[in-house]
Amino acid sequence: MCYAIPGKITGLKNKIAIVDYFGEKRRVLNEFENVRKGDYVYAQGGIIVYKIPKKEAIEILKLWKDRFFELKKIDKNLSQLDGEIKVRNNILEILQKVNLQKELSKRELLDLLELKDQASLKLLYQTANNIRQKEHGNACCVHGIIEFSNYCRNNCLYCGIRNDRLIDRYRMREEEIIRIAKYAVRKLRFKALVLQSGEDYWYDEKKLIKIVREIRKLNVLIFLSIGIRSESLYSKLYRAGAKAILLRFETSNKKIFSKLRPKTSFEERVSLIRSLKKMGYIIATGFLIGLPGEKNNDIINNILLTKKLNADMYSFGPFIPTKGTPLENLAPVSQDVVLKTIAISRITDRKSKILVTSALETLGKEARKNGLLSGANSLMINLTPSYYKKLYELYPGRPDRDKNLLENIKETIELLFSLGRAPIDLGI
Ligand code: 5AD
Ligand code: SF4
Repeated sequence: MCYAIPGKITGLKNKIAIVDYFGEKRRVLNEFENVRKGDYVYAQGGIIVYKIPKKEAIEILKLWKDRFFELKKIDKNLSQLDGEIKVRNNILEILQKVNLQKELSKRELLDLLELKDQASLKLLYQTANNIRQKEHGNACCVHGIIEFSNYCRNNCLYCGIRNDRLIDRYRMREEEIIRIAKYAVRKLRFKALVLQSGEDYWYDEKKLIKIVREIRKLNVLIFLSIGIRSESLYSKLYRAGAKAILLRFETSNKKIFSKLRPKTSFEERVSLIRSLKKMGYIIATGFLIGLPGEKNNDIINNILLTKKLNADMYSFGPFIPTKGTPLENLAPVSQDVVLKTIAISRITDRKSKILVTSALETLGKEARKNGLLSGANSLMINLTPSYYKKLYELYPGRPDRDKNLLENIKETIELLFSLGRAPIDLGI
């Protein structure tokens, strides 16, 4: 199995390389000294992660060639706008403005978020999907995630692994994390891994650096998702080989933030995200949808803050109530609210990647597919062994909870192919 397509370097200037995928060119960052024009590489998140021997690359490209063009055709067909859909004039005007690439006012973004009738929703999702196809082609990132510890020093009211909740806790040892990463990269050929945990300071500088150094040797893009740590530690981890961060600001509404995240600071979180971006990290950030007290205006502010933070990737999902937490009796938002948020994010930020998160998948069988058809172009596959996965329950009802990994990968790839998406990576 192979989830990424190697590209050929056709241009190289300073640290910027042009990588060609069957005639389609992407700009990517190159940090390797031994990469030259004519070499074949794998790029992830806009960074070259691995130089692949020419012979091997040509073999893989041969396997991909026909399928590549076939997939593109399917995607193009699925992302056309249906000119027959009848919607209210003011909505049509807003969507026409979008097609002319004009910036929408906050009022107009709110009008889109408030849409309810099926025809308008359909046109909104199609418009966003059409932008996704024009800007990114049929590329879709498929990252693997390893949830390595469910200890957390925080007590966020919405979260299933909050410190006060009585659950069995686990911590993987360094060797165990590295072993799972090796399996994911060598056997399953993942090219990007997310290492996630609660805010668990048991993993000190020494342990984290060891984990990152060893996994980086596998030639894979490392995303860290470990919460608040000092800038100096993050800077050391960057040098050790981690190049991407997943850290949500959770909500841009400071009142809601301080109510739901006791003893943590909104300003500190946002300022850390900014600093990490400056350090050179690829940034995935975002928010929860449907927290108590949240209004539509907050969702729009959340989208705009994600954009302002220059997110390379949007990561947001619905808040799902968890038993045994203070918010257990609340109701989750509907799938359409999340799809509208994906579509509006795509309209607001054409160039970024948008992730379909597993929280969205809990809202319906087709939710993942619907997310991909509303402007999203990124997925994650959970690589955590099942005995730990059951304990890493940020929220209940994860659809992959009891699924076997290989089965899950197969289903994901089948879904992507049915939508004409290719798991190659995108440029910067
Ligand atoms: N529902 C959905 N997402 C949640 N998270 C935490 N608790 C929940 C919940 N109940 C998300 C947070 C955090 C990420 C790791 O998981 O947004 O950033
Ligand atoms: Fe910890 Fe994150 Fe859960 Fe908050 S949301 S309790 S920081 S894992």
